[in-house]
Amino acid sequence: MKMIKNTVMLLALALSAPISAETTENPDAAPAAPATVEETASGVCAGCHSADGNSVIPMNPILAGQHAEYITKQLIDFKATETQPAKRNSPVMSSMVAALSQDDMKKLGAYYAKQKANPSQVATDADAKLIEIGKILYHGGNIENGVPACASCHGPNGSGIPPHYPAVAGQHAEYTLTQLNLFNTGDRGNDNQIMQKVLTRMSGQEKRAVSVYISTMR
Ligand code: HEC
Ligand code: HEC
Repeated sequence: MKMIKNTVMLLALALSAPISAETTENPDAAPAAPATVEETASGVCAGCHSADGNSVIPMNPILAGQHAEYITKQLIDFKATETQPAKRNSPVMSSMVAALSQDDMKKLGAYYAKQKANPSQVATDADAKLIEIGKILYHGGNIENGVPACASCHGPNGSGIPPHYPAVAGQHAEYTLTQLNLFNTGDRGNDNQIMQKVLTRMSGQEKRAVSVYISTMR
């Protein structure tokens, strides 16, 4: 009888303690992320970007060979803080980075930068005209509507200039076109307005053309 009474008292104590409820809701609680970057990349991220970052799904960007600093910046920008919304809006990626620390993001940047890009996209004959238009725009811009040459920031071969200008060569055309449209509408606004300015006077055909051309660059 005495034992039961003690148990009940302990139970009552445990129930009145608010600690458990607080720890489950605490956003700073230790993330359940796997221990190594390799495990994260081949576990969590691989489903959409492939383990080595050579995504085969046109909507998901290829990360292999991208500059480490750029990748880390994007991961930081996808993450909302207690006081500020995410600088780059993507419901999918925001939930992916929620449990990552800045150190994880740095390591993931270094990991993908080390992987060899293996772009698999091949242009069809139907794309020939678009590629021609895109090539001229990429390397020379369009003086008539004031679009600057992409090459001046992303490099003549599309390998970018670290740390600020990302590599674009070989990227899926669908992903690139989506980003151009997001910059254009302002829905992607983590570029200090640089890309938003580039896009203001580009036609729909120019956006498609340059996206297809970029996918063929090696
Ligand atoms: C469910 C699919 C999915 C998973 C899982 C996923 N991603 Fe993504 N990721 C995307 C999509 C879609 C985008 C493009 C978002 C946009 O349109 O802005 C993206 C974009 C990115 C970008 C920006 C690339 C660029 O060129 O700007 C990085 C970096 C990235 N993901 C890293 C990761 C990492 C690291 C993980 C694992 C922790 C991960 N992703 C898991 C779908 C996914
Ligand atoms: C004045 C420099 C500049 C010029 C010119 C420029 N860009 Fe960019 N671009 C940037 C910067 C900076 C970023 C990275 C923004 C960020 O940090 O998120 C970027 C990002 C991008 C991205 C997103 C890459 C990714 O992986 O998500 C694409 C696509 C892109 N640019 C395409 C183009 C195209 C196409 C042109 C030519 C029509 C062009 N850019 C011209 C500076 C430039």
